[in-house]
Amino acid sequence: MAKQKTSFFCQTCGAESAKWQGKCPSCNEWNTIVEEIIIKENKKESWDPIQEKNAPKSKKLQDVSTIETQRIITHDAELNRVLGGGIVAGSVILVAGEPGIGKSTLFLQACLQMQDITTLYISGEESMQQIKMRADRINATNDQFYVLTVTDTQTIFNEIKKIKPTLIIIDSIQTLASPFIESAPGSVSQIRECTAEIIRFAKATNTPVFIIGHITKDGTIAGPKVLEHMVDTVLQFEGDRHYAYRILRTTKNRFGNASELGIYEMSENGLRQISNPSEILITQKEESLSGIAIAATLEGARPLLIETQALVTHAVYGTPQRTVSGFDLRRLQLLLAVLEKRGGFQFGVKDVFLNIAGGIKVEDPAIDLAVIAALLSSYEDTAIAHKSCFVGEVGLSGEIRAVNRIEQRIAEADKLGFEKIFVSKFNKKSLHSKTNIEIVMLSKIEEMYRMLF
Ligand code: TYD
Ligand code: MG
Repeated sequence: MAKQKTSFFCQTCGAESAKWQGKCPSCNEWNTIVEEIIIKENKKESWDPIQEKNAPKSKKLQDVSTIETQRIITHDAELNRVLGGGIVAGSVILVAGEPGIGKSTLFLQACLQMQDITTLYISGEESMQQIKMRADRINATNDQFYVLTVTDTQTIFNEIKKIKPTLIIIDSIQTLASPFIESAPGSVSQIRECTAEIIRFAKATNTPVFIIGHITKDGTIAGPKVLEHMVDTVLQFEGDRHYAYRILRTTKNRFGNASELGIYEMSENGLRQISNPSEILITQKEESLSGIAIAATLEGARPLLIETQALVTHAVYGTPQRTVSGFDLRRLQLLLAVLEKRGGFQFGVKDVFLNIAGGIKVEDPAIDLAVIAALLSSYEDTAIAHKSCFVGEVGLSGEIRAVNRIEQRIAEADKLGFEKIFVSKFNKKSLHSKTNIEIVMLSKIEEMYRMLF
């Protein structure tokens, strides 16, 4: 009897090693290495879903035909945008997100809307009845939409041969199992093998495949990181579960811009596209309140006006608290240190709470200036003038630094009816077009303080 072949895999980064170790040498995580059986007895080769035995030949690059990449344009403008203008034929797209965020809803909805395309939706998580119930909930029907609830890749490929779908959705990769690998579904070697089979199939038949994958608590794609290298596009579906807003973000794209963003709202009957996000991220209110400043940020290539809210109060306990939501805590501490040292504000004896409205996580450093303005506004308990917004990165010496794509940010603020925008003086060179909005140039946070309060 042939011996089973086993190997050791890190469940976090996917690194393979010959022996068990307590600490993964590649990602330095502890207790993540698990032994997995990779080849069943007497079976050496992994299964080729298309059984193509023609030996591949090399070709001169100039002889390679450049067929204009065909794209399937979906009815979902946000999805088209993050994919770089539709689904490229033969591409494999990984969609990662936390459980319950709405991945299944998004693809069920997008595919049901495309009446002229045969879709095969493979679900290893839900029964056909559950999928039907969800389809009823989002109120969509389509006679070209097939569902399959199996997890065995061999059965899946056999079914695909019969139906010949134009588009395939796999929900989720963690439930699939290849009969050629012994280990349990969701293990690194299973995920890797199933993805490899899917990619071989997609490339050979030119069928696009969406692979849905769950992510772990710390935000990495469950199973191996290697998955990200294998696929053509990686989309991240994220959002705070307590808010209705969901963001679909491109983190890798071989066929388009890798910093695109789509915004949705989870409603009673499915996801609703939000084409003008700035309007919902700013609370409409009559009176001006202290501690609120609007930032002109850029998420990916998309300008977004976001409200930052700060609350600065007297610390009741010995150690003052710093609490953030949607913003980096260390960045807040840095900004407070700058205010303390350069501006002489006594934040060391205050509790500081900072919140980015809408449950959105902002990574753009240009939000700094608005955060500073919100903090100062709450510190002074004086509201910032209505219809003002801020854009700029703040340096350690309190200087306001230039940011990229300033014109796009200003244009968005202008479009939304803002009257005043505070920008860095060093952005002056990149300002060319004429706008209605008043542009205030600043070089230091002290200048801003004097102007505002
Ligand atoms: P789901 O698509 O099942 O999430 P995932 O596949 O990422 O695990 O979405 C689950 C959540 O979405 C669930 O909590 C219910 C909610 N939901 C709505 O609010 N409205 C809807 O129309 C649908 C279909 C789901
Ligand atoms: Mg799901």
